[in-house]
Amino acid sequence: MKIRTKFVDNSIVWLMNLLLIKLSFGQSINQPKLCASATWDPNGLTFANISAIGSFPSTVFVTVNNSVYIAASNLNEIQMWSESSAQPMKVISNGLNSPTGLFVSDDGDIYVNNGLINGRIDKWTSNTWSLVSTIKISYACCSLFVDKNKSLYCSMCNHHQVIKMLLTNGSNLTVVAAGNTTAGSASNTLSSPQGIFVDSSFELYVADCGNDRIQVFKPGQLSGTTIVSNKTLGTIDLNCPQMVIIDANGYLFIADGNNNLENKEYNTATKNISTKFY
Ligand SMILES: *[C@@H]1O[C@H](CO)[C@@H](O)[C@H](O)[C@H]1NC(C)=O
Ligand SMILES: *[C@@H]1O[C@H](CO)[C@@H](O)[C@H](O)[C@H]1NC(C)=O
Ligand SMILES: *[C@@H]1O[C@H](CO)[C@@H](O)[C@H](O)[C@H]1NC(C)=O
Ligand SMILES: *[C@@H]1O[C@H](CO)[C@@H](O)[C@H](O)[C@H]1NC(C)=O
Ligand SMILES: *[C@@H]1O[C@H](CO)[C@@H](O)[C@H](O)[C@H]1NC(C)=O
Ligand SMILES: *[C@@H]1O[C@H](CO)[C@@H](O)[C@H](O)[C@H]1NC(C)=O
Ligand SMILES: *[C@@H]1O[C@H](CO)[C@@H](O)[C@H](O)[C@H]1NC(C)=O
Ligand SMILES: *[C@@H]1O[C@H](CO)[C@@H](O)[C@H](O)[C@H]1NC(C)=O
Repeated sequence: MKIRTKFVDNSIVWLMNLLLIKLSFGQSINQPKLCASATWDPNGLTFANISAIGSFPSTVFVTVNNSVYIAASNLNEIQMWSESSAQPMKVISNGLNSPTGLFVSDDGDIYVNNGLINGRIDKWTSNTWSLVSTIKISYACCSLFVDKNKSLYCSMCNHHQVIKMLLTNGSNLTVVAAGNTTAGSASNTLSSPQGIFVDSSFELYVADCGNDRIQVFKPGQLSGTTIVSNKTLGTIDLNCPQMVIIDANGYLFIADGNNNLENKEYNTATKNISTKFY
């Protein structure tokens, strides 16, 4: 499970019960089974505050083991917390510059976009927390995802494209997964794509922030389908969605960036959408 969002009060606050339910029923890191009846608890717990994680925790990533990884961008750190710790268990600070787009693969390797301006994806090992490799790309990744085939996806929000590369074939060749670099709202274009999620069928979900919509791309297809937007559902107004995850029950969770953390849940079967937590 991955949550990526920006927090207005510089703290990480969530409903700890909900988090535990999600994780204990989770099937895999790529496609957890979230609790469909979970409701918002206004009395959230502060997990870590500004004193520990700085003023711009750009990405939060929770592993199947309930380890919480935080890209503390303005501290130039990646921190790893256990669910009960009062301070980070481990910190990477060497050589990091405004880390964003953190993704932890199921073997514990950490992928991070190192630098908001430069396109540079660094891989760190879980064992020694040392840098293993660097992939240079032309633009920065706002979000990263590693699918079950070990393909790494990068959403280049300033380049209106999502690219992917296979991590297992010894090549750093990238292929286009979505978007043609022109910002636009056509089926083959994206506008500032942010959060990405790849399900077990290799369908790519893109939080298409600039178009206020969620696009889905079948593997190998550059023409996407809009599954959630202001128009399709009528009852909701997306405003720069920043993250999507889809769980094993077919629920899509959207962090709706500019609606002040109002998260949406969309049931792909009933096409019902509801405001879930904010
Ligand atoms: C953050 O939390 C620590 C310990 O829980 C506390 O001592 C500190 O005052 C808090 N800082 C802020 C800015 O709330
Ligand atoms: C989770 O724990 C298992 C068993 O200890 C370990 O093999 C795996 O690497 C861990 N995964 C992560 C992402 O930490
Ligand atoms: C790919 O790797 C080769 C050799 O390892 C290197 O010369 C090249 O610059 C890399 N390309 C990118 C885009 O990182
Ligand atoms: C995933 O890997 C399997 C086995 O190597 C391959 O047959 C399949 O085409 C791959 N699919 C994608 C979308 O990468
Ligand atoms: C490695 O994967 C890329 C796609 O990600 C592909 O373009 C390239 O041909 C592959 N290289 C080898 C040696 O299989
Ligand atoms: C991308 O597609 C759009 C619309 O389909 C088109 O207007 C635009 O010229 C294309 N951009 C590039 C770089 O091909
Ligand atoms: C969708 O609704 C939001 C909130 O009302 C609005 O700000 C945005 O402009 C709308 N987007 C589109 C593409 O109509
Ligand atoms: C949601 O779906 C149920 C049926 O599954 C239906 O009874 C209900 O009216 C729907 N709610 C909305 C807001 O569309």
